[in-house]
Amino acid sequence: MADTVTDTHYWQNWQDSWDRQQEWYLPDREERFRVMLDMVEALAGPAPRVLDLACGTGSITDRLLKRFPEATSTGVDLDPALLAIARGHFAGDGRVTFVTADLKDPHWPAALPRETDGPAGAPHPGYDAILTATALHWLPAADLAALYRRLAPLVRPGGVFMNADHMPDPATPRLNAAEHAHRHAAMDRARAAGAVDWDRWWELAAADPVLAGPVERRFEIYGEHAEGETPSEAWHVATLLDAGFAEARTVWRSPSDGLVLGLK
Ligand SMILES: C[S@@+](CC[C@H](N)C(=O)[O-])C[C@H]1O[C@@H](n2cnc3c(N)ncnc32)[C@H](O)[C@@H]1O
Repeated sequence: MADTVTDTHYWQNWQDSWDRQQEWYLPDREERFRVMLDMVEALAGPAPRVLDLACGTGSITDRLLKRFPEATSTGVDLDPALLAIARGHFAGDGRVTFVTADLKDPHWPAALPRETDGPAGAPHPGYDAILTATALHWLPAADLAALYRRLAPLVRPGGVFMNADHMPDPATPRLNAAEHAHRHAAMDRARAAGAVDWDRWWELAAADPVLAGPVERRFEIYGEHAEGETPSEAWHVATLLDAGFAEARTVWRSPSDGLVLGLK
């Protein structure tokens, strides 16, 4: 049923409500996206071929295409409800493809669209940029290290990988605790004033007749939320270098989150 809704306002409303819910956690979310796309432009130019990893509703792809109309994007995710919103929102846009895959599956890259420009059987030319946000903390660190090793060959020489996510510094536990308490107090105040949190957002999606089926399947796959880890920036940098990136470092951070870039 989700595929049959053609009302663009319907999908835009779900996009907007997802953005508000994510911003409840991440007041700096748009700034993070902006810096990510600045770095794409700096290193890969204004018409990149992008892989939007763990894309959810396609928030990165949305900002990418608004800023770089000549870009193309493939979104990968496992969540049938978020992918239904993504597919509905970008329906008819030939620049965008979505793929259902589990990033913990070692064979997930085989699900990516094959290169159609080159001769049959030609090796994948590599993405200009693989981008991901607020997602890879769903994976245990060992699975994330394995994922980084699988991502490196998918990026063309000179291309980039960027991961924006929660990256606490283990050397500053009191600072981390104070920042966490301060941020969560603001979130509690916003929720009391009507902001929609994660649980409430999923209740609203489950109550929508179009999304109810995909939401049910989503909870069968993940439960409430997958259990993962939040390694430090230093861990991400070292693991990207080990995986085959030539340079890696943080290009932005907030008190709680980092944006780490690997250059192939
Ligand atoms: C909080 S959402 C973020 C989505 C989007 N990047 C954004 O910033 O709005 C986390 C996403 O990671 C996806 N994800 C988590 N584990 C995954 C896995 N093993 N395979 C594929 N996607 C996964 C979830 O389905 C979800 O869409």
